[in-house]
Amino acid sequence: MSQRISLTRYLVEQQREHGNIPSELRLLLEVVARACKSISQAVSKGDLTGILGVAGSENVQGEVQKQLDIIANEVLIEANEWGGHLAAMASEEMEAIHVVPNRYPQGEYLLMFDPLDGSSNIDVNVSIGTIFSVFKKPEGGHAVTEQDFLQKGREQVAAGYCLYGPQTTLVLTVGAGVVMFTLDREQGSFVLIKENVQVPVDTQEFAINMSNMRHWAEPVKRYVDECLQGTEGPRGKNFNMRWVASMVADVHRILTRGGVFMYPWDQREPHKAGKLRLLYEANPMGWLIEQAGGVATNGQQRILDLQPTALHERVSVFLGSKNEVDRVTRYHAGL
Ligand code: AHG
Ligand code: MN
Ligand code: MN
Repeated sequence: MSQRISLTRYLVEQQREHGNIPSELRLLLEVVARACKSISQAVSKGDLTGILGVAGSENVQGEVQKQLDIIANEVLIEANEWGGHLAAMASEEMEAIHVVPNRYPQGEYLLMFDPLDGSSNIDVNVSIGTIFSVFKKPEGGHAVTEQDFLQKGREQVAAGYCLYGPQTTLVLTVGAGVVMFTLDREQGSFVLIKENVQVPVDTQEFAINMSNMRHWAEPVKRYVDECLQGTEGPRGKNFNMRWVASMVADVHRILTRGGVFMYPWDQREPHKAGKLRLLYEANPMGWLIEQAGGVATNGQQRILDLQPTALHERVSVFLGSKNEVDRVTRYHAGL
């Protein structure tokens, strides 16, 4: 790309040309990007500032919180509550929604986030990230409630993530394709690196935590077993496997070179639909993947068509290259 286009310029030009980013949404996205910059800074310092390790608390889902989970959550809340663009926020790390305090004006958007995805990778210096999803508050002039957050993923108006890896990369959709920006630390700005990101429809790479194999349902076992048989099996080709254990990094790889990502239901905790969260992980990632020409299902249905029933609801996730996700979804239907 000969000319450097900043995130700000990209958003302004999108609004001018397509009218799909109203100024409040632009402010919101810029504020999220700014918060991610500051999380990236904290992540990159690691042990130098003593922010690694556990915080000594658990979140609402009973998971041990890392110090960085809490720091990232606070950074996102503080950055977003005063701008007048939001009505409320919800986070994987908070039991209840966070309504914008009375001392600030309330806007019309709702922001949901997984402040730090890939917590188990924080202390081992492996890529982690922030995932976010934006909805409009339903009409009606009522005080914002938890119910307002329970919208289907297809109602999202923006979604994205920021990956803290060898580079810090912000990936975004507002419903007109997927764009990627990399943080130029000297300039302090996100610079456009890729537009119209496309996930190849075919792939020979799958991502799943294989250690759970004995707990999976039959259709997942069948799909993975056929991949493992390679050229000698029914697929007639060899497959490679990758599992970073940070969804944000696994999805980034799939947006970059294709692949299929799976975190299915398993019988260790049969009452849970899956491990990943519908609102903070599956919806935003599902929409990004669809916007890049891929597919995202829970094995039965399109993720974006699921009606959420609770803030911290979990879901099975199959997403990525179209032909592979279609296949594993077909296996669930017994076809
Ligand atoms: P989080 O750190 O936000 O709780 O999410 C972790 C998720 C996801 O990023 C990843 O795909 C998955 O957990 C890894 O799970 P396993 O450790 O079971 O492989
Ligand atoms: Mn996560
Ligand atoms: Mn998290």
